[in-house]
Amino acid sequence: MTPLEWNEGLSVRDFHIDEEHRAAVEDINAITHSLDYEPDSLLSNFDRFVDHCREHFRNEERLMEEHGFPQFDVHQSEHHRVLAEMDDIRRRLLADGPGPLEFYFRIGLKSWFLSHVRSMDAAGLEHVNRVRGRRYDAE
Ligand SMILES: [Fe+2]
Ligand SMILES: [Fe+2]
Repeated sequence: MTPLEWNEGLSVRDFHIDEEHRAAVEDINAITHSLDYEPDSLLSNFDRFVDHCREHFRNEERLMEEHGFPQFDVHQSEHHRVLAEMDDIRRRLLADGPGPLEFYFRIGLKSWFLSHVRSMDAAGLEHVNRVRGRRYDAE
């Protein structure tokens, strides 16, 4: 499968969040690379992705909370749901190896990432940027 590629259509108009999403694209591609060529590095690449997600979700949540995003709770619970799912995937990876999880690593993870960025993150950051604009105008 072709690697995931960053494109401007994924931008949420926030430099730091975009940078973290670019890093997530790299992490996801590293996971695919492990599956294809270096199975021994799969666990460490997955762990790195999960660590980055944990930090990234906190950063997004802080921004949305500071800017009074009305759907903050929904977005935060989706982050928590995904982290719990990743914990479960890790347990299954250790128990049964990557075979039964190929679909998750090759397709599920990518499609979750793309749809989350384009829907929930885009909506959250659109709100953040609108509030930023109003605060700027008020100065
Ligand atoms: Fe995000
Ligand atoms: Fe998010």
